[in-house]
Amino acid sequence: MHICRTVSDIRASMAGFRAAGDSIGLVTTMGALHAGHMQLVAEARGVHDRVVATIFVNPTQFGNQEDLAKYPRTEARDLEMLEEAGVDVVLMPEASEIYPPGDQTIVETTELANSYHGLVRPGHFRGVATVVTKLFNIIGPDAAYFGEKDYQQLAVIRRMVTDLHMPLRIHGVATVREADGLAMSSRNVRLTADDREAAPVLFRALKEAETLLFRGASVEGIAGHIRDTVSDEPRATLTGLDIVDAATFAPVTGAVTAPIGIMISAQFGDVLLIDQIELTPPKG
Ligand code: PAF
Repeated sequence: MHICRTVSDIRASMAGFRAAGDSIGLVTTMGALHAGHMQLVAEARGVHDRVVATIFVNPTQFGNQEDLAKYPRTEARDLEMLEEAGVDVVLMPEASEIYPPGDQTIVETTELANSYHGLVRPGHFRGVATVVTKLFNIIGPDAAYFGEKDYQQLAVIRRMVTDLHMPLRIHGVATVREADGLAMSSRNVRLTADDREAAPVLFRALKEAETLLFRGASVEGIAGHIRDTVSDEPRATLTGLDIVDAATFAPVTGAVTAPIGIMISAQFGDVLLIDQIELTPPKG
């Protein structure tokens, strides 16, 4: 596995792959890898001749510098995991390589970035769209793989790729969960033992929403049940609950007649967890 630290180094590697006619799959990460990331790598590995991963803790997507400083960094272990999974090249740049001196260009999906979770974390999706654009431009993959857990992030990236005519495919990969349903996340290691035990309430609430939908519940009925379920767990504070049309990301109300996405976020101590589910209403 080749480790690149600079744009020119990784461009040279990619030129070699292209000359050989190899297809390239990309998995972008901020490190602190877990089984969710490895599922992205596995899906890319199954399709492409070459798999490239990036490890870059992107400063522009953190509103709060303390969160940036606290972000877990497990570089040596991350590299071992990527090597074992058959990744060909890893890009691990310094921030100054990605944001050159005088950098002033941003990418923003104006509406999507500033709704739902974007209201709780102003500037977050602008930072994500900007860094992902840079990484796509540097690497030039045929396809990139992103987790469905970050449901709005995936929608932002799809929108941006469509709007800017970026020549690659985006694949959403199903959320990987612990045995008790908790979505894999780099933040899970920061939960206290009690909060870790409480955290599966999010997935439980989402699964109950699925049952309610099959019984014909409305959006308001589903939202009310999720709120009640999470508020019954004293260690959780619900910070966001959005139910959107899965195709357009518009908010929905009333009877559910088309697939919906439910996005939920809750605070456990000082750790903010997010989860999501996409549900299709029964026919008829
Ligand atoms: O999902 C993430 O880990 C990050 O938001 C991403 C896509 C790597 C951009 O920094």
